[in-house]
Amino acid sequence: MGIVDEIKEAAEKLGDQKDKLTEKVSDLAGVLADRGSAEGFEIMRKTDPILSLPGGVTIVALHEDVVEVLGDPARFTADLYGPKMEAVTGPFILGVDDVPLYHHDHAAMDRAVTREDLPLLAQRMYETAQRLVAARRDDGEIDVVSELADPAIDSGIDAYFGTPGPDPATHARWARNVFHELFINVGNLPPVRERALADAARWRVHLDGLIDARKRRLEAGGDVPDDVLTRLLRFQSEGEPNLHDVAIRHNLLGMITGWIPTISNAFARIVDELLDREDELEGAQRAARDGDRDLVAAYCFEASRFNPQNFALLRYVPADTVIAQGTDRETRVKAGSTVFAATLSAMHDERAIARPDEFRTDRPWSDYMLFGHGMHTCYGQQIVRAQLPAMAHALLEGPRLRRARGGDGRLRFDGPFPGGLTVRFDD
Ligand code: HEM
Repeated sequence: MGIVDEIKEAAEKLGDQKDKLTEKVSDLAGVLADRGSAEGFEIMRKTDPILSLPGGVTIVALHEDVVEVLGDPARFTADLYGPKMEAVTGPFILGVDDVPLYHHDHAAMDRAVTREDLPLLAQRMYETAQRLVAARRDDGEIDVVSELADPAIDSGIDAYFGTPGPDPATHARWARNVFHELFINVGNLPPVRERALADAARWRVHLDGLIDARKRRLEAGGDVPDDVLTRLLRFQSEGEPNLHDVAIRHNLLGMITGWIPTISNAFARIVDELLDREDELEGAQRAARDGDRDLVAAYCFEASRFNPQNFALLRYVPADTVIAQGTDRETRVKAGSTVFAATLSAMHDERAIARPDEFRTDRPWSDYMLFGHGMHTCYGQQIVRAQLPAMAHALLEGPRLRRARGGDGRLRFDGPFPGGLTVRFDD
């Protein structure tokens, strides 16, 4: 019996409060696993790099094995995400593997989301973040989640996709609740699922309204912004196959689910990591003040390598197979089981990464597995590489940052997501 099942069984005895308690304990277990995972993986890499746990769960910790798992979507599929995605919105690229829908939807989004847009995305993010930081200067401190990352990302989505939420807080809540169900709720806790389904239902109606309104403006020949929604609707009217309104809606919903919770989470952890490292924080602030965005980016992604947004990716095993065949760690995994590919561990594997314990700003991009590997490598990676350093730039270029006093200055969690981290400007 797995830990989540044990918690569920114990909670059964508690009547009405059981679902709430089960979820709280599960969140806590997640946070503890997250915090302790770097040390745990270090031990695993030395002693037991492929760990088979009861209940059909296998964890792989070496870079080579993580690459093997994520690089072979036929043997290690995304089937665990698929049905959940169908339930919240409809089929989405991360929930299917090498099938026509994956390639079609990926290509349609690629036509609308282009590399040429990236400099503008970065510039808008920088300006928005500067405004948000400036608004908090007189108070001397800012919560980098609720007062910076969440509203800045929401504003970026509004300007680029053309699909704002009803307000930034609701947008972030919808995206987090859906993300929680899709990627974190491995124990399938009912309250998590119910919340996600309820919010997804509201979100679908909201997006349908935005799509309808934009269509009407396009049909009336009015002025429309050149954003992703307009582009997708134009491709639709040019006869792009299968790009009906519902397909547009579920692609946008899926993308935004992958957008708000991830950048906000990654950003909070980057700031947290830098605050723990005096010299690196000073270096990052110097780079920002010098206007060296590439160096700010290098600090951000290196900080993320130590404290990433997610430490492992989940895959389903459709048929019996063997991992690391021909090595002394060769392990048979059974059909119906799941594999956790520990990307955090892979990024610290001394066999593949030069001096992995050192914080370095000159690493090749190939040292990073923050965005996964193989077929499902993050679709938004280039957006993140444009937006996240721009947001960091606006925060770091000002006075020396310190943690706010007391609990507010520590990274706080709201369920499985960073809920706040307050920093003060040390003028
Ligand atoms: C710091 C921010 C982000 C991080 C750390 C991140 C991380 C990841 C990771 C690790 C995966 C692979 C999942 C897997 O293989 O199971 C992934 C996939 C994906 N991400 Fe991101 N992501 C971020 C931001 C974004 C943004 C901004 C978007 C959308 C604009 C996005 C959209 C997606 C999509 C659509 C996929 C699935 C791609 C596919 O199946 O081909 N992500 N992301």
